[in-house]
Amino acid sequence: MSLKGRVALVTGGAQGIGKAIVRHLAQAGAAVIALDRDDEAAHQTVSQIVSEGLTASAVCADVASSKSVAAAVAPLLKRYGAVDILVNNAGITRDGLLLRMKDADWDAVMSVNLNGTYHCIKVVLPSMVKRRWGRIVNISSIIGAVGNAGQANYAASKGAIVGLTKTLAREYANRCVTVNAVAPGFIETEMTAGLPSATKDALMTQIPMGRLGVPADIAYAVGFLASEEAGYVTGQVFHVNGGMHMAG
Ligand SMILES: NC(=O)c1ccc[n+]([C@@H]2O[C@H](COP(=O)([O-])OP(=O)(O)OC[C@H]3O[C@@H](n4cnc5c(N)ncnc54)[C@H](O)[C@@H]3O)[C@@H](O)[C@H]2O)c1
Repeated sequence: MSLKGRVALVTGGAQGIGKAIVRHLAQAGAAVIALDRDDEAAHQTVSQIVSEGLTASAVCADVASSKSVAAAVAPLLKRYGAVDILVNNAGITRDGLLLRMKDADWDAVMSVNLNGTYHCIKVVLPSMVKRRWGRIVNISSIIGAVGNAGQANYAASKGAIVGLTKTLAREYANRCVTVNAVAPGFIETEMTAGLPSATKDALMTQIPMGRLGVPADIAYAVGFLASEEAGYVTGQVFHVNGGMHMAG
């Protein structure tokens, strides 16, 4: 699988799953841009990846703001002509049972996870359509498929990403732009670091592979969907969860 000559934009690329995606796409030969609201962390990640002899750079933006995304992506489009691969990975959680959930927590999760995905697609899609080639990979979650008590906002945002993915797959298939989702199970990152060990133990009993995932597990799935070879795969949700949920 080679992504040589491709330009890839990965949101939330500073750490966790996003960082692994940036590294994997760069290893496959793409020029990768890590977009993150944490500028310092994004630059650190990128210098690490560049020191491995790969091509990567960082841009600072808040995906929740269409203006911020447009301002960050405009210079990239000017420089490269197009973004060939977009990975919408930036995401947050603000957990709580619905009856106790603050409107601000609902809104924050929707703004980043769902609106952020929309904003990024909106700015890069015209360049893909024009070139008649594009790969969009949206990071959903097992929670969007099966739900999870205490995560109504997160589950709603990740389920909505699936509807968005399938619709755009239909809209742009004839322009050779594929749109897919990757739905990770429980992956070892800062997002899950705070889970109590009792919760982790309980989770383990539900995962046939007997371990949490690592960020690279997700990056490999994204790498395939971003490749030339995946050109006939569109509108799909690729579940990567150690067998925890086996979608029909
Ligand atoms: N870790 C898991 O178990 C798991 C499971 C399923 C899905 N996911 C999804 O995978 C994605 C990555 O998760 P992670 O575990 O690596 O998270 P993480 O918290 O480790 O990293 C998220 C990154 O996104 C960035 N980010 C957050 N809000 C942003 C914004 N508004 N604009 C720009 N950047 C922003 C953060 O700065 C950070 O670098 C998320 O969409 C998450 O919902 C994670």
